[in-house]
Amino acid sequence: MTGIELSGIRKTFGETEVVKGLDLSIRAEEFLVILGPSGCGKSTLLRLIAGLEDVTQGRITIHGLDVTRTESGQRGCAMVFQNYALYPHMTVAGNMAYGLKVAGVPRRERAERVARIAAMLELGALLERRPHELSGGQRQRVAMGRAMIRSPRIFLFDEPLSNLDAKLRAQLRLEIKRLHRDLGTTSIFVTHDQLEAMTMADRMVVMNAGRIEQVGTPQDIYRRPATRFVAGFIGAPAMNIIPALIDEGGRAMAPGGWHPCPEAIWALAPGTEVELGVRPADVVAMASASAGPLFTPDVNEDVGTEVHLHARGAGLDLTLSTPAGAPHPLQDFAISFPAHVAHCFVEETGQRAALRHSIPERTEAPWPETSLSSI
Ligand SMILES: Nc1ncnc2c1ncn2[C@@H]1O[C@H](COP(=O)(O)OP(=O)(O)OP(=O)(O)O)[C@@H](O)[C@H]1O
Ligand SMILES: [Mg+2]
Repeated sequence: MTGIELSGIRKTFGETEVVKGLDLSIRAEEFLVILGPSGCGKSTLLRLIAGLEDVTQGRITIHGLDVTRTESGQRGCAMVFQNYALYPHMTVAGNMAYGLKVAGVPRRERAERVARIAAMLELGALLERRPHELSGGQRQRVAMGRAMIRSPRIFLFDEPLSNLDAKLRAQLRLEIKRLHRDLGTTSIFVTHDQLEAMTMADRMVVMNAGRIEQVGTPQDIYRRPATRFVAGFIGAPAMNIIPALIDEGGRAMAPGGWHPCPEAIWALAPGTEVELGVRPADVVAMASASAGPLFTPDVNEDVGTEVHLHARGAGLDLTLSTPAGAPHPLQDFAISFPAHVAHCFVEETGQRAALRHSIPERTEAPWPETSLSSI
């Protein structure tokens, strides 16, 4: 069943178009994450769905009903914001029950619902405190409780974890996932943190400058970024990008006349300018190569589980990522990578190009020990 359907959505503020014709189907009970850089229109999109802003053009349906012109209060959406916006003079219980009180729900039922939601969010012991007596994480849980208590049809989260420290973020991330598993409420969660997006999403939407770049599962998007923008935005450390030109044989040739991935034959016309992408973990370092430039190690970053090696050569800054304890090059090295981990984007359009022939994925480890033994 479709939860929310957005068709041809446009939003302009004055002269500026902020959402530029956007189509998206959000499934009922899905946890959808919208990821994109600051200013790309994420909050605006949520506010349009919630009815806090009117669309300039387009149609919004929720569970099959056209709500494009429906008042915010009638859409069944509850929103949780980055700044908790709690009433400072009210207790936790008062904050949570306020919406119900305004809606005329009797006192006893209010108390019951507060108790039930507080138990779910482990706020039971804090009900008589005021917001200034709570930690950031507790405040954000109260804000979530306030949204949950009205049993909304849809949760809209606008970067609710941004103000919290890393440990609390990770903890609340799990709590929100558990709540979603237990309640099954259709949820849209906005963030500009890719780890948060990847770990929370059933499906992810990557937005850029008012448009959708790609929709898919975190794995789809990581493994097959549809555009150059997505390739650069998803994955840490960021994907290596090598500018290249398609030669007569369909191979991508880098400046200086070398082929970073000679195995890959792209379905593109000779002379097409491209950007060849390869993730740091997919680059294989070799003691020497029959052809191609050498790269010189620059600095290493040890992040515990892996080491990121930054190197320079052929006018490029290159990053390699190797599991902790695995050999990594200490001297000049050459690189290679198989076609199935190579990504190619047409420079002019930013769109992903396909291989001319599909290549079966290799199963062996990307780090053949022998390739480094002599470095
Ligand atoms: N009420 C408004 N009037 C004019 N411009 C606005 C208004 N609201 C948002 N904008 C502009 O629309 C663009 C998108 O804003 P939006 O808040 O949706 O971005 P965002 O993706 O949520 O960014 P962030 O990650 O920083 O929260 C921005 O350029 C912003 O300045
Ligand atoms: Mg925002």
